[in-house]
Amino acid sequence: MNSYEKKNSLEIPLPDPFYYTDSETLKILKIIHNISRKHPVNVLVSGKQGCGKSSIVRQYAAFYQKPLATFQVGILSEPGQLFGEYTLENGETRYKQFLFPEAIQTPNCVIHLEEINRPEHPKALNMLFSLLSDDREVWMDELGTLKVADGVTFFATLNEGDEYIGTELLDPALRDRFYILLMDYLPREVEKEVLTQKTGVDQNQAEAIMEAICALRGNADLAIEISTRTTLMIGEMVAAGGSLRDGIVTSLQTDKEALESILLSLQVEKGVVEKRELDYIRFAPEALEN
Ligand SMILES: Nc1ncnc2c1ncn2[C@@H]1O[C@H](COP(=O)(O)OP(=O)(O)OP(=O)(O)O)[C@@H](O)[C@H]1O
Ligand SMILES: [Mg+2]
Repeated sequence: MNSYEKKNSLEIPLPDPFYYTDSETLKILKIIHNISRKHPVNVLVSGKQGCGKSSIVRQYAAFYQKPLATFQVGILSEPGQLFGEYTLENGETRYKQFLFPEAIQTPNCVIHLEEINRPEHPKALNMLFSLLSDDREVWMDELGTLKVADGVTFFATLNEGDEYIGTELLDPALRDRFYILLMDYLPREVEKEVLTQKTGVDQNQAEAIMEAICALRGNADLAIEISTRTTLMIGEMVAAGGSLRDGIVTSLQTDKEALESILLSLQVEKGVVEKRELDYIRFAPEALEN
């Protein structure tokens, strides 16, 4: 099965009961929904890794009861790849349509294009251009004319950390066709609330985690982004019996050396992670009992 077809179907997602956003963003999404009732509309959601971009698209679909389909633009290597592929069946070649053409022709569908700034092949976005522009249609040999249905909302998400600036920013002509929603991490107290609600850590644990997270985010020397996803991963570890140190060690994507200096700085500055001497034991049933 081709990876563009995988696990995708047109369903209205369930809402995340603990998703938080600011009132301005909510208002804008409401307006976007109103615009979508007049004609299809494009929204670009830009923000750091793991700040809740995919979740807000899902939440929009859930809230307004629209079917959602998500497509990875970041792995496209040729223009028609989202639409379908030729397959060999009983010795005959035939064209098999993927979910994307169906999604754009489904009224009120929310179409999430992930990592739109990073297709593997620059021409891969060509066919998307006309669907996102005022024509709202595209023609192809295999499927004829495809028209975007009424009420469709296209959401494109892109990661725009400092590291991307200048190299992989979205083509201006494409960017021009979108309303832009800039997202950032939640304020500390709200993120702490999400942390307790989603992982089940208690107030003290949540406070200790947030203290470490804020120290890491405030450390300009660190070359890693600490996302809300990372916060939640640490929370899950702690809620399941791990220490804060366990959570940090297993959730930060960095090398051993950087990790050591991170732990050291946390220990020195905040006193939040205990240092630990390691003893080595045999990985056998009795080792897991205590
Ligand atoms: N505002 C929020 N309220 C509640 N949970 C959130 C919020 N933002 C992020 N999360 C949680 O953090 C995790 C990451 O969110 P999500 O996948 O939406 O981020 P993303 O920006 O799409 O990440 P990526 O850059 O990797 O695509 C999810 O588990 C999500 O539920
Ligand atoms: Mg995402």
